[in-house]
Amino acid sequence: MNILVTGAIGFIGSHLCEQLLSLSHKVIGLDNLDPFYEVQKKQENLKILEGNNGFRFIYGDIRNSFLVNEILASNQIELVIHLAAKAGVRPSISNVSDYMDVNLNGLVTLLEASRNCNVRRFIFISSSSVYGNQKKLPFSESDDVSFPISPYAATKKSGELLCYTYHHLYNIESACLRLFTVYGPRQRPDLAIHKFTQLAIEQQPIELYGDGSSIRDYTFVSDIVDGICGIAFHPELNYEIFNLGNGKPVKLIEMVEELQNALQTKIEIKFIEKQAGDVDQTHADIAKANVYFGYQPKVSFKQGVAEFVKWFKKR
Ligand SMILES: NC(=O)c1ccc[n+]([C@@H]2O[C@H](COP(=O)([O-])OP(=O)(O)OC[C@H]3O[C@@H](n4cnc5c(N)ncnc54)[C@H](O)[C@@H]3O)[C@@H](O)[C@H]2O)c1
Repeated sequence: MNILVTGAIGFIGSHLCEQLLSLSHKVIGLDNLDPFYEVQKKQENLKILEGNNGFRFIYGDIRNSFLVNEILASNQIELVIHLAAKAGVRPSISNVSDYMDVNLNGLVTLLEASRNCNVRRFIFISSSSVYGNQKKLPFSESDDVSFPISPYAATKKSGELLCYTYHHLYNIESACLRLFTVYGPRQRPDLAIHKFTQLAIEQQPIELYGDGSSIRDYTFVSDIVDGICGIAFHPELNYEIFNLGNGKPVKLIEMVEELQNALQTKIEIKFIEKQAGDVDQTHADIAKANVYFGYQPKVSFKQGVAEFVKWFKKR
């Protein structure tokens, strides 16, 4: 199948492209090397993909309507998997208009081009952040998500609505996937596991927001990629929303303990005030994805952290 992956050389995108290529698909990767974190890391991801015959990289912006239409039309793209975004909760608070522009105008540009070029299926990568500070656990797709507590979360919720609109008007098959704290090799350096590992290795203290009791449903990147592929190639899809999580949340303080074990070093902790926009807890109900397309995470948190640390030390 001919597939367009946006955000292809980011953390999750690069793993997804590898998997799609291993399944013999033809992949066009679109990415603008956004400087949110070191561009060199994205170039390293690109190098991993570039050797593959089925892969073509296009440097460009999802907001460039001419470029996006041209890519879809001239490559007979049947499936778009849209990961490109301004990611991160906290920076979205000080940079709202950029988040709105990339995450919403960029999405609409892709949806419009998909409609023009008769793309059959559109997978939108959403986020667990849409659940906000909901108290009911675990988070289920049928819960009311009308209360996002950061601009980032608001863009993801709005994105899900736009995908429905394009499904309704133009019959584009669409799935919105709410990813829960993804980690693993090549993880974004702004995310806690990566940031803490870096500091621990430099023998510097880490800062924990709140009292360490917040919980996250950490999900290993290979499980996320399996989930994306599971729905992307499912024979039946109209419009659906799915959680992709691990289903076994971990306290922040337990995450640090697991890192200490894997790194075999003591980590010094400084507790600081909770950050605006951060949710207290995330916990995915993954039953819907399990029933619909057999989604079943395989990597335990212990294994995943060990795998991450192995990768980190190697590079
Ligand atoms: N990592 C997580 O824990 C997590 C959790 C929930 C949802 N998500 C979502 O998954 C997706 C991928 O996240 P990631 O962690 O791999 O982040 P990432 O920053 O590593 O990847 C995003 C990629 O998109 C590219 N990009 C950004 N703006 C672009 C634009 N205007 N045009 C073209 N490319 C652009 C960036 O250069 C980057 O390579 C994002 O949509 C993110 O919101 C991630």
